[in-house]
Amino acid sequence: MGIIVKEDRLFLLNTRNTSYAFFRDDDGILVQLYWGKKIERPEDYDTETMVWEQGYHPAVDKKREECSSFGMMRYKEASMKFIFSDGVRDFRYRMQEYRAEGDRLDIVLQDQHYPLRVTLHYQVHEELDIIEKWREAENLGEETIGAERFFSGEFTLPGNGYRSINCNGTWADEFKGYEDTLCAGKKIYESMRGATAHVATPAFIVHQDADETRGEVWFAALAWSGNFKVIAEQTPYDYLNLQIGISDTDFCWNLKGGETFVSPRVYAGFSDEGLGKMSNILHRFAAQRVMPSASAERPLRVLYNSWEATTFQVTCEGQMELAKKAAQAGAELFVVDDGWFGQRSSDHLGLGDWYVNPEKFPEGLKPLIDCVKGLGMDFGIWIEPEMVNENSDLYRAHPDWIYRYSTRPVLEGRYQYMLDLTNPEVIRFIVDFIDRLLSENDISYIKWDMNRAMGECAAPHLEKEEYQSIWYRHVQGFYSIIEELRRRHPMVEFEACASGGGRVDFGCLSRFDEFWTSDNTDPLDRLSIQETYSLLYPPKYMRAWITDAADSADRRVPLSFKAHCAMCGSLGIGMDLNRLGEDGLAELAGYVEEYKRLRPIIQFGRLSRLQSGRKDDLYAVEYDKDGEAVLFVFLQLRPRGKYEYTVKLRNLEETAVYAVEADGRVLEKSGAYLMNHGLVLNMRADFSSKCIHLKKR
Ligand code: DGJ
Repeated sequence: MGIIVKEDRLFLLNTRNTSYAFFRDDDGILVQLYWGKKIERPEDYDTETMVWEQGYHPAVDKKREECSSFGMMRYKEASMKFIFSDGVRDFRYRMQEYRAEGDRLDIVLQDQHYPLRVTLHYQVHEELDIIEKWREAENLGEETIGAERFFSGEFTLPGNGYRSINCNGTWADEFKGYEDTLCAGKKIYESMRGATAHVATPAFIVHQDADETRGEVWFAALAWSGNFKVIAEQTPYDYLNLQIGISDTDFCWNLKGGETFVSPRVYAGFSDEGLGKMSNILHRFAAQRVMPSASAERPLRVLYNSWEATTFQVTCEGQMELAKKAAQAGAELFVVDDGWFGQRSSDHLGLGDWYVNPEKFPEGLKPLIDCVKGLGMDFGIWIEPEMVNENSDLYRAHPDWIYRYSTRPVLEGRYQYMLDLTNPEVIRFIVDFIDRLLSENDISYIKWDMNRAMGECAAPHLEKEEYQSIWYRHVQGFYSIIEELRRRHPMVEFEACASGGGRVDFGCLSRFDEFWTSDNTDPLDRLSIQETYSLLYPPKYMRAWITDAADSADRRVPLSFKAHCAMCGSLGIGMDLNRLGEDGLAELAGYVEEYKRLRPIIQFGRLSRLQSGRKDDLYAVEYDKDGEAVLFVFLQLRPRGKYEYTVKLRNLEETAVYAVEADGRVLEKSGAYLMNHGLVLNMRADFSSKCIHLKKR
């Protein structure tokens, strides 16, 4: 059973392999007991309060709380903070009641004096080994209550010395995979950019000496695409406190009488078999519970995107030329990127003017779309709906539609301003232009970009008391637009892009069909970006292009290496096909064909990171599904005198025999051999790579 409540005070949340337990103590405070491998017997848990006051350390500060609130002599980080109209700033709650039904638990906390109620919500995804948490604050009175911090979840782990891995990075170098030990004190990372951002990922991964296949790992990912904060505090009381939620830096939500405020959701889990199992849990959960249902089962098409070939120099003829070659290469979707609209000849102008540029497309998009369709491909297009250039008709007509401080010059990022999505008129404008674009043209894919971060949080049509909620309201506006468009155009595929991986998060995962993972398309960098990305997010959502980015005057990377790297996710092509030549095009078409054959295993299979180029000579990643597997292996620089590498596979059947298709030969090997002895591979040159298909006989 997913949820067990004992004596109205012990709450035990069991999934297939894990347990999460907390209890209400005699002070009415919820205290955590356990998070880890399954201990399903409620009788095993001791609900006596073992925490006592100790001179300088109040008991409440020492408790491993499920939901701490600022004040009451708590000195640790607290996961909520409210301010009442009389200036009181501590929320003194008692657990009032709970409701447990099926896989759902709601626990109601009530302030002892003020009309504030907070409900802690839990959804147990028993078969998927995920516990979902979120919170709701309700003002039952008339005076406004300010929610200054309202995180989604708090987790504690006993002891110390935990290691933490994060997926933070920077633009064009996302997902660095930093690792460190959590010592006394706090580690905090957050985004204050209005989007989740390249620099920080809204998730935590904490472990004790875990690797890919061994060790205990605790993890959580936030379903939110705006400012967030993750805090890991090694308290003085021999436990680690982990908190995750929307950022409280410059945040206040004014909860008016009768209103409620709901936090984003956090998905948390535990693996006793290292990081590999953690990723499998999250990928499976994403596919079964988070992705839009239309997207979860639909394979993603191989796309061609013209951005790196043409940048802003888009013309109808030029795109048609590329389309012919893209079709020859086997692309299924042709995407025109930035530069097709308004007066958009560079990034200095045109954003906001979503009409087809008449010089570039004198007869509109139709001739190009007809050409693309005639070549057997679908058509897609790029937009950046939340932005406007100063040099645009939109800005000239509506200078009050952007975020700005009236007394300051407006801040530019990539020469653009951010539209005020807290304004319903702006939302209507955006929904209408995209709806028109999709209704008037045969477009089946949209790449939604966002190329600057938020700056000034002031909006002309809002009261100044609401300014600190703009960070949050912007994301609500963004979500409302994409949700409305999906409702009106359910068959259209949407890609979330923010100058690369600035919007890779579980909030976008439930509203988009894929992510643009990074603007860095050099496969040598991509391999490590992709590796860390896969810790949290499914490979299917990882758009990856074959491009020329790795080549320079003194380095040429073979097409095979570039193609195999991009084939590890949802394949795209982004290179200038005019420079490829007939032989190159034929070789490219071969990889695309191979990808299409293996696509069900790569996009819908289980991923295993076998070897990391950060630690070994090789990167090796395997995907398996229904008795088949695909293995990609990459050697960047061959150490002198080394020609052979052995790669051990995972998740095969020991006793089954597999046909192993590699280098034009088919070998037969048992699962036991492949997993224990390993596959011996000949890798003789720098930038060698292999794509190997295994099929159970
Ligand atoms: C940033 C994106 O990440 C690129 O792929 C491209 O779409 C440009 N923006 C276009 O301006």
